[in-house]
Amino acid sequence: MAFQTLTVEIDDYVALIRLNRPEALNALNSQLMGELADAVTEADRNEKVRCIVLTGSEKAFAAGADIKEMSEKSFVDVYTGNIFGEEIDRITAVRKPIIAAVAGYALGGGCELAMACDFILCADNAKFGQPEINLGVIAGIGGTQRLTRFVGKSKSMEMHLTGRFMDAAEAERAGLVSRVVPAAKLIPEALAAAKKIAEKSQIAVAAAKEAVNRAYETTLREGVLFERRSFQALFATEDQKEGMAAFLEKREPQFRDR
Ligand code: CAA
Repeated sequence: MAFQTLTVEIDDYVALIRLNRPEALNALNSQLMGELADAVTEADRNEKVRCIVLTGSEKAFAAGADIKEMSEKSFVDVYTGNIFGEEIDRITAVRKPIIAAVAGYALGGGCELAMACDFILCADNAKFGQPEINLGVIAGIGGTQRLTRFVGKSKSMEMHLTGRFMDAAEAERAGLVSRVVPAAKLIPEALAAAKKIAEKSQIAVAAAKEAVNRAYETTLREGVLFERRSFQALFATEDQKEGMAAFLEKREPQFRDR
């Protein structure tokens, strides 16, 4: 499928998706969000893809929803159009891991999009924020909920109420990102992490993603039970036999996703 607002490169079982609207700092308009939902859905179905890296440019991962496109919309337009609701649900429904590789601005919908991925690696020039309050609105694709779960109420509330940005060091301290790397190393590091994931048993990878995500959806007791059942179920796979045999035989495992 050809896209106009992003590029997709597939190599070594990793799909690298780059948002590409440089004229608007990758602001998320309806075309970009539709194409992104299509691209990740396609990658999810593609047997040549085991992990997805989502990135933007060196200056901006994405500077938020496209303000020009939104500015004239009415309540009825955004309510009936469910602005970006369907697309973000399609992105979070992807079963393969998605790593957000963030350089520069990840603001508003851009920060929310990064948080909807499975983890965030960021460059040392990254800036995160939910500045929608400056536009007379609030976050609309999960920011009030996800940022609060990532960094706690106090910091999330301050960011949503004041619109201030968080730099990379603060984002790492607060637990918003898994790691900060020098800007020039962002893509190589993200691809290296993705390749590491691609080498694992993809059944275990899918189970790990599901189980960690359960932590956001349910109680501790239910989540622990869900994890326990998934852990137990993995003993029905050939990959569990192979992984443990390889360890005992001091060799690399050859997973076959069975
Ligand atoms: N929507 C549309 N266009 C945008 C944009 C956005 N969110 N962010 C930047 N642009 C455009 C600018 O209009 C500008 O275009 P022109 O050259 O045609 O004027 C171009 O990108 C470059 O931007 P700046 O000149 O402003 O660049 P800068 O380096 O001076 O500032 C910035 C960078 C601090 C990110 C600034 O662009 C900015 O504050 N952007 C808006 C951030 C924002 O408010 N995001 C939240 C959007 S609402 C939202 O996301 C709702 C939701 O949750 C779904």
